[in-house]
Amino acid sequence: MTKLIGVVGAGTMGRGIAHTLLRANYAVSLVDSLPEALGGAQQAISSGLAHDVEKGRLNAETRQQAFARLQISAETDAVSQASFIIEAVTERFEAKAEVFRKLELYCPSTTIFATNTSSISITRLAAITGRPGRFLGLHFFNPVPVMKLVEVVAGVETLPETFEAAADLARSVGKTPIRVNDFPGFVSNRLLMPMINEAAFAVMEGVAEANAVDDVMKLGMNHPMGPLELADFIGLDVCLDIMRVLYDGFHDAKYRPCPLLEKMVYAGRLGRKSGRGFFNYS
Ligand code: 3HC
Repeated sequence: MTKLIGVVGAGTMGRGIAHTLLRANYAVSLVDSLPEALGGAQQAISSGLAHDVEKGRLNAETRQQAFARLQISAETDAVSQASFIIEAVTERFEAKAEVFRKLELYCPSTTIFATNTSSISITRLAAITGRPGRFLGLHFFNPVPVMKLVEVVAGVETLPETFEAAADLARSVGKTPIRVNDFPGFVSNRLLMPMINEAAFAVMEGVAEANAVDDVMKLGMNHPMGPLELADFIGLDVCLDIMRVLYDGFHDAKYRPCPLLEKMVYAGRLGRKSGRGFFNYS
């Protein structure tokens, strides 16, 4: 029988996760309170599945079947029949807490709850539900259909069987799960964000222009994108939020956010999504 997975949040990450699940034969119930987010997600998933046909990963028939397994709804209770639910709403504790409080009301106690948070404490989110043993982090990377990694983040109370179910799910969609424990930024953002932050310092201090900083990392270290292009791709506001989580979480000055990064966010230069960040996209 086709397994149903719930995805809450139809932004960039939620729609990427839904697309990845659909092409791996899962049924997906995708919910978001914003109708425009749902409409955008349906379109993006449809063109993503069409791209899979062009690349030979699906044929016309399996593409149609995959798209037909997608249900969308503006009501959170639409995911209540799913045995595994992945939350991918905005990266604010209260927004995520509200989703989990609702899910707690609608879902049986056996349902596993996963959050795609990039930096919020899994243990803290788990504690607002009545199922901290069946709660964990499942951290995907953008663009989700392409990137191989899923960080599987165990909170203090996460049960071994919950971890195994999540790792199996990740493997079944072609990803490589890597276990990490719940500390600020996990492994990925604890390493990535200080690099991005330091690249911003290098620009601020006049060590080199933004494109030169990026070229150093692309040509010298074989990074597919330089740190500043990557920061624009992720969103400078997201990078700043994660630096603040690291700074607040460790109380260590080495994680202080770069003032240039702060200034750019205050100016609304958020990267690709706003048309301008370290580089211009207009
Ligand atoms: N959405 C979906 N698919 C995309 C995409 C997007 N935005 N951008 C590129 N792709 C796909 C292309 O369709 C192509 O797929 P195909 O092989 O099936 O045709 C594949 O990616 C490669 O694309 P291109 O050949 O056009 O371009 P590149 O070779 O330059 O690769 C890239 C693009 C994969 C984005 C590469 O530049 C890259 O790996 N960049 C780094 C991405 C990265 O580090 N992501 C992690 C960000 S951190 C994060 O998400 C965590 C969070 O907590 C902050």
